[in-house]
Amino acid sequence: MPLEIARNDITKMKVDAIVNAANESLLGGGGVDGAIHRAAGAELLAECRTLGGCKTGKAKITGGYNLPAKHVIHTVGPIYEDGKHGEKALLESCYRESLALAKENNCETVAFPLISSGVYGYPKDQALKVAIDVISDFLLENEMTVYIVIFDKAAYKISEKLFSDIAEYIDDNYMDGHTDYSSERIRMNALPSMAPRKRRKKSEDDFLEMCDTMIEKIIIGKRESKHAKKGVKQKIRILFKGFGELNDLMCV
Ligand code: AR6
Repeated sequence: MPLEIARNDITKMKVDAIVNAANESLLGGGGVDGAIHRAAGAELLAECRTLGGCKTGKAKITGGYNLPAKHVIHTVGPIYEDGKHGEKALLESCYRESLALAKENNCETVAFPLISSGVYGYPKDQALKVAIDVISDFLLENEMTVYIVIFDKAAYKISEKLFSDIAEYIDDNYMDGHTDYSSERIRMNALPSMAPRKRRKKSEDDFLEMCDTMIEKIIIGKRESKHAKKGVKQKIRILFKGFGELNDLMCV
């Protein structure tokens, strides 16, 4: 089942569940939390008040109210200190717990923001790798479409690095699904405008433009699952989508 990396505003996504990067009070805040509460309306806060908060690394589910999404899964990411305080394990737990809740609630489509990568300071490239890793593991054994939503200009500021890290990560972690999908070809297919632009410094606007014009690019990777010993290998599709395409396809 596919994992899609998309540029979008998560509050606009018409999916079964969007994930909120909340704090332990679950009573709202800034960033994506604030945006979700504003878009969902006061009833969301009223339901959150009944939940008794949520521990870091855990997740709780509510209705979506005025959002196009049916549910909101609230998870609390770690505050990043220096990476040596268990941040990675807690962030992985956020994705795992949220996906488990989505499954329990029969969600077929789920959208995640990059948890902890804003106010909580987790480096965005590392946060993305954690997200891809945990979600991919989950998708090897579960039927669901999962979106990682990257929204703000600041996230895109690290554009070249972010995307070359993704390509590198895929090279490191995914086996080629087909003989004609060599690592280099995967990289080129995923990053259509990277090679010619390498020599000049790309501005934020260049990158946003690139994302907007980027059409669906599909990377098929085969990854050894936990069942590798039994010889089971499954495909994870990772799609990169620009803002416009996803709006057309998925959003209200
Ligand atoms: N759609 C998708 N992603 C978004 C949106 C949006 N509308 N708005 C922001 N992001 P943050 P955290 C991205 O700070 O780091 C709150 O006050 C944003 O660019 O929302 O987990 C809570 O109450 C960033 O990449 O969450 C907590 O106190 C990512 O979402 C605290 O912030 C997460 O950034 C949680 O901090």
